[in-house]
Amino acid sequence: MSTQDYYIQQVQSLNERRAAETGRQPLALVKTFGCQMNAHDSEKIETILSQMGYGKTDAADSADLAIYNTCCVRENAENHLYGNLGLLTHIKKERRDMRIILCGCMTQQGAALEKLLRSYRHVDVILGTYNLRRLPELLYNSLIAGRQIVEIRQSPEGPEQAEEFESKTGCRHFAFKASVNIMYGCGNNCSYCIVPYVRGRERSRSPENILTELRLLAADGVKEVMLLGQNVNSYDAGAQIRFADLLERVCETPGTEQIERIRFMTSHPKDLSGALIAVMRRQPKIARHLHLPLQSGSTRVLTRMNRKYTQEDYLRLIDRIREAMPDITLTTDIIVGFPGETEEDFDATLDVVRRARFAGAFTFLYSKRPGTPAADMDGQVPPAEAGDRFQRLLAVLNPMILAENEKRIGTILRVLPEEINAQGSRPGENCLTGRADNNTIVHFRADKNHLGSFTPVKITGCKTYYLLGEAVD
Ligand code: SAH
Ligand code: SF4
Ligand code: F3S
Repeated sequence: MSTQDYYIQQVQSLNERRAAETGRQPLALVKTFGCQMNAHDSEKIETILSQMGYGKTDAADSADLAIYNTCCVRENAENHLYGNLGLLTHIKKERRDMRIILCGCMTQQGAALEKLLRSYRHVDVILGTYNLRRLPELLYNSLIAGRQIVEIRQSPEGPEQAEEFESKTGCRHFAFKASVNIMYGCGNNCSYCIVPYVRGRERSRSPENILTELRLLAADGVKEVMLLGQNVNSYDAGAQIRFADLLERVCETPGTEQIERIRFMTSHPKDLSGALIAVMRRQPKIARHLHLPLQSGSTRVLTRMNRKYTQEDYLRLIDRIREAMPDITLTTDIIVGFPGETEEDFDATLDVVRRARFAGAFTFLYSKRPGTPAADMDGQVPPAEAGDRFQRLLAVLNPMILAENEKRIGTILRVLPEEINAQGSRPGENCLTGRADNNTIVHFRADKNHLGSFTPVKITGCKTYYLLGEAVD
């Protein structure tokens, strides 16, 4: 038995004893801030907690244990955490035996950690991103000793330790779809971005470990898998295995036939290879969608961002992709108000947006991240000006996204229905929501026994953020 499994058992015994005393099962709240990597880490944390005998709760005031998995990619992610943590302070004042744990990216960021230590003394455990696997031991020590524990490493642990945490599968937010880490950290150092500082240098997970996890997921009923990395296109497992090779293996590995759809994100434009386009064309399991962050359409800004492609490179790349796969959808990320961005630079972004025909975009106001090169650059854009550009960007983007969606009307798309529609756009119990192969959200009429099964859906209408349709029997 591993050391951490021993501590899982120890906490489980404590919980059993406690449940016998109080007459109720202890409850844990896990709240995720940030990206899909954090959400995926939270699933593993939930697996560990369920092994320890914790039940789940969404309400902080009923939680015996609250774990906040933090993000620091933009300032508002941090502010969101501080707001939630303030609320926990009040609850903990009434309930001294409650435990609060912080993990995730903020804990690795010097200034944020300092503020947490200074202003939030009621937090019991602070655990960095490189050693999440040690959660059971630290939680146990906190339950026994009751003093604050802070454990932050400055660099990643080795691949074996990483696998120890990876092996904690079992809890998934959806039974029929799963995320799988294929790499950790990031080696790109975009000048605005904090991720490389808080997630470390880029490490690729071995193909054997990835394929073993996929076989387990397939046996557990998973039908769709999302391969995760900050820049999947730079996957490099040595021995000539690059991302395109890995994808091909993922599609063809015996024992994973039940996995019908494969997605991946994120793709950095500078590393997207011809081999990847060829594999996407060849392998029907791979979803016809690429999330290809543009960040800016101005070559001058892209250079200052250290993105390593020009406006022309980006436009040429999407032409090549569309030529090979005319039915593909492209989505993107765009940052507005990067230091030194002029009206002319911003116009270049609008220009690319008009030409690229994105089917979706995440748009962000530049947020200064302490310690990154961009934080010290000249020409920080005043917030009012950045805000104005942001609105103008949406005014160009939204009608284009709608136009892309309108092209789908009358076609039949393969959708994996995930939930009964809670959006209220087409009320009634026979409305389901899922994603098409091209990643667009689809609300459609169908019996609820379609949940979790790929369903052909005839598209009958659309709005900017979703398609509407009916299941085809
Ligand atoms: N690795 C991924 C994205 C990770 S962060 C990639 O490179 O595509 C997700 C998005 O957050 C980025 O694409 C970028 O658009 C945005 N982002 C990152 N740092 C930011 C900052 N300091 N201010 C505003 N947006 C930022
Ligand atoms: Fe950040 Fe750039 Fe790495 Fe993405 S590729 S995580 S934006 S440094
Ligand atoms: Fe945030 Fe960390 Fe993801 S900073 S975006 S949770 S890698």
